[in-house]
Amino acid sequence: MNIRKNISLRTLNTFGIDAVAEYYAEFNSVEDLIEVLEVLLTTRKSVATSSSGSVFSSNSASGSAAAPLILGGGSNILLVSDVPGWVIKNNIEGINVVKEDDEFVYVKSGAGVTWHELVLFAIENGWGGIENLSLIPGKVGAGPMQNIGAYGVEIKDVFHELNALHIYEKKQVKFNLNECEFGYRESVFKRKYKGQFVILDVTLKLRKQPVFNISYGAIEQELNNMGVKQLSLKAISQAVINIRSSKLPDPAKTGNAGSFFKNPTVEPAEFERLRTLFPEIPGYPQADDRVKLAAGWMIEQCGWKGFRSGDAGCHARQALVLVNYGQASGLEIYSLSKKIQQSVYEKFGVMLEPEVNIVPAITV
Ligand code: FAD
Ligand code: EPU
Repeated sequence: MNIRKNISLRTLNTFGIDAVAEYYAEFNSVEDLIEVLEVLLTTRKSVATSSSGSVFSSNSASGSAAAPLILGGGSNILLVSDVPGWVIKNNIEGINVVKEDDEFVYVKSGAGVTWHELVLFAIENGWGGIENLSLIPGKVGAGPMQNIGAYGVEIKDVFHELNALHIYEKKQVKFNLNECEFGYRESVFKRKYKGQFVILDVTLKLRKQPVFNISYGAIEQELNNMGVKQLSLKAISQAVINIRSSKLPDPAKTGNAGSFFKNPTVEPAEFERLRTLFPEIPGYPQADDRVKLAAGWMIEQCGWKGFRSGDAGCHARQALVLVNYGQASGLEIYSLSKKIQQSVYEKFGVMLEPEVNIVPAITV
C-alpha cells in the first residue's frame, strides 16, 4: 500500500482541474482497499458522522463530515477546491463470465476496468446490450452510481448485480437490480447510501442473441450515412461513436465531464405552458407521464452556447457541456454553471440540476 500526501489530481479528472488531495492511495483488490480504509479510519480525517446515528465512527474535532472520494476515471466530477482528507482510486481489474443460460451470459467486471473496454469485449463476443453505451468515459464501477445512459439504453437495462464494500463496517454487500433503485442518472449510491460504499465489481446480463436498439436520435441516420446494410453490434457501436465524436469534446484535448446538468422533467401542463411561449421547445414524454426537456436546447436559447470567459466555457457544439480550455479553476467552472442555471430559470422557470458530482459538495 502506497499512501501519498498532497497529490495533484490534475491528470486524474477529465475537467483537468488542478486540485490537490491531502491523502491519496490506489487499490487493486478488496484486500488492498481494506488495508487503506484501516489507515484512513485511524487518521479520523475522513470519517463521516452518520445522521442516522448508526455504526459509523464520529468525525474529527472539526466536525466536518468528509467521506473519502472514491475515484474511477474522474470523468463525472468537478473539483471546486483541494480535497481535504482522502482520495482513493479504484484499480480492480478483471472481466469474467460467471454464469450462462440459453439466453444470457453473465459478465462480471472489476470496478476499475475501463467502461469502453468492457463494451468492446461484449461486442467481440457477440453479446448484446451495451453497444449503445459505447465510448462513455470512465470505469465500470461508476456506471451504476449514476445509472449511465446514452442512445436509449441505461446500465439498469442489462444490470444483474454488484458487490460493494461498506466503508465503515468493511463488510461486502451484494446489491441486485431492485436494491440499486436506479432512476434517470440516479441510484441508491447517490442518495441514501451516498459516501458509504465502494463498488468492487459489477455483473451484467448480456444477450446471446442481441436485440438491436436503433430507435434513438440519429443512430438510424448515421447507419445510413455509413452505408450499413446488415445491422451488427459493431455497426451500432461505430454509429454511436461517430455521433458522440461529432458533438462531444474529447477530454484528452478539452477538459470536460460530459453533460453538466441533467435534462429536467416537468408536468404535461407545465410543458404546454412552455410550448405556448416557446413553440420550438423539444419535449420527450416519459413513462411516468412527465415530459423531459432538453437542457442543452434551453441553455442555447439563453445565448450561452460557445460562451467563454477566461478558460471556462460552454461548448460550441453541445451547450450542455461545460469546458475547461486549460487553466480554469473548478470554482470558475462552477460559477459559470450557476450563471447558466440562473438564466435558464429566469427565461423558462425551470431549475437545472447538476449531473456532474461537485467535490467537495457545495450546497448553496
Ligand atoms: P468518476 O468521475 O471517477 O466518479 C463519479 C462518481 O462516482 C463520484 O462520485 C465517485 O466518487 C463515484 N465512484 C466512482 N467509482 C466508484 C466506485 N467504484 N465505488 C463507489 N463510488 C464510485 N455519462 C453518461 O451517463 N452518459 C453519457 O453519455 C456520458 N457521456 C460523457 C461524455 C464525456 C465526454 C464525458 C467526459 C463524460 C460523460 N459521461 C456520461 C459522464 C461519465 O463518463 C460517467 O458518469 C462515468 O460513469 C463516470 O465514470 P468515472 O469512472 O470517470 O467516475
Ligand atoms: N440541443 C440543442 N442545443 C445544444 C444541445 C442540444 O438544441 O447545444 C438539443 C438537440 O438538438 C436535441 C436535444 O437538445 O434536440 C438533445 O440533445 P442530445 O441528443 O445531444 O442529447 P442531450 O440530451 O444533450 C443526453 C445525455 C448524454 C447522452 C445523450 C445521448 C443527459 C444529461 N445527457 O444529452 O449523456 O450521451 O443524451 O443519449 O441526459 C452525460 O451524461 O454526460 C452525457 C453526455
